[in-house]
Amino acid sequence: MSLLPHPLAPALTPLRGVVRVPGDKSISHRALLLGGLATGTTRIRGLLEGEDVRSTWGCLAALGVPISRAPDPGGGGEVVVVEGRPWRTPAAPLDCGNSGTTMRLLLGALAGRPGVEATLVGDASLSRRPMERVAAPLRRMGAMVETTGGTAPVRVRGAALTGIDFESPVASAQVKSAVLLAGLAARGTTRVREPGRSRDHTERALRARGVRLDEAPDGALALEGGQALRALDVDVPGDPSSAAFLLAAALLVPGSHVSVEGVGLNPTRTGALEALRAMGARLEVAPGPCPDGGEPVGSVSAAPAAPLVAADLGGEVVLRAIDEVPVLAVVAAFARGRTRLTDAGELRHKESDRLAAVARGLGALGVEVTERPDGLEVGGDPDRALRGGVTLATHGDHRLAMAFAVAALRADGPVFLDDGACVAVSYPGFWGDLRRLGGGA
Ligand code: S3P
Repeated sequence: MSLLPHPLAPALTPLRGVVRVPGDKSISHRALLLGGLATGTTRIRGLLEGEDVRSTWGCLAALGVPISRAPDPGGGGEVVVVEGRPWRTPAAPLDCGNSGTTMRLLLGALAGRPGVEATLVGDASLSRRPMERVAAPLRRMGAMVETTGGTAPVRVRGAALTGIDFESPVASAQVKSAVLLAGLAARGTTRVREPGRSRDHTERALRARGVRLDEAPDGALALEGGQALRALDVDVPGDPSSAAFLLAAALLVPGSHVSVEGVGLNPTRTGALEALRAMGARLEVAPGPCPDGGEPVGSVSAAPAAPLVAADLGGEVVLRAIDEVPVLAVVAAFARGRTRLTDAGELRHKESDRLAAVARGLGALGVEVTERPDGLEVGGDPDRALRGGVTLATHGDHRLAMAFAVAALRADGPVFLDDGACVAVSYPGFWGDLRRLGGGA
């Protein structure tokens, strides 16, 4: 990644236009991974070509899963083709790069493959993130999983697993998915319960591929092991977490109007839209049909209306907006009053400690921010200009870079990022899209 400071110019004109954001990162990982586990051929349209998904692609290829590109039979573009195959022990450690989803979901899938052994490694950021939350339940199921003091490198040796009743201490789709993927290969029933409902892409993807997965009224999931996974062609919707940056930008720059088309509207991911509305934002959501694979898709438009107001944001709304908290904190800097973001302690375990990094970044821009153990309090003023001339630390975290880019649109002079290249983790075309809409960057 480039270490040259990335300059961000304030917005001089409104942001206007219609965009499509790249494919959903969570769904892209699952489309590749389940394609590699399924019987048959999977064709994926709209796969995110970001660095994280490339990590999953590379790991699966090293495990013996053929993945290639082919012309899209239904249009002018390309599809990614995955052939389901029995996995083999890779020749070298599996490099998960910056991607927690790659590492945790792969651990779950590898745990139930007797005869396959692998070591999973990651970059400096991923190597600081907690892996025992996945390793512990997989060990209980019968796999050999060794972390390095709780983090990567992680060594896994697949085994014949037995289903468990697992009560996850954290609401995490990565943990839930790892246990469900292991459960698919286990003897007996695997039950997973989590303290809040995390994103449900794995559940939808498994069901769409013919797996029976029961859900109790309290949200507990039950999966009978040994079920076949059918290959399924997938259309990956646009990533709502990527769309959130452009929508937030439109809300903050007077006279803007931005529509994002073909974006995922899975209710476990739409917390940011609700949070923005709670701050008085005008958003128009037009749901489209729910295609094969069971993921709702539609379009969302944003334009500034009345001045934004502070809100108390916590609980399940924050869980359903977990990756959007940095940009919500930026919007809160322009919402009159004091916005309280709570129940966001998990942000300390993302690609960076996002609570600390957002507090420092907004503070440097002149915003009054208080960091709490599980959240942030942000003082907002709709009429303010942020302080230009400062350089902000992204910690190589894509979502921080994009959130700060949105903030910089309302600065009184250029703002600099220590690293603009890290957006490629989830949104390689971000700078181009922002520029095309009229945003300063
Ligand atoms: C993801 C789950 C979330 C999210 C991450 C992607 C997934 O992490 O923050 O960006 O694809 O399952 P946790 O499961 O750790 O909360």
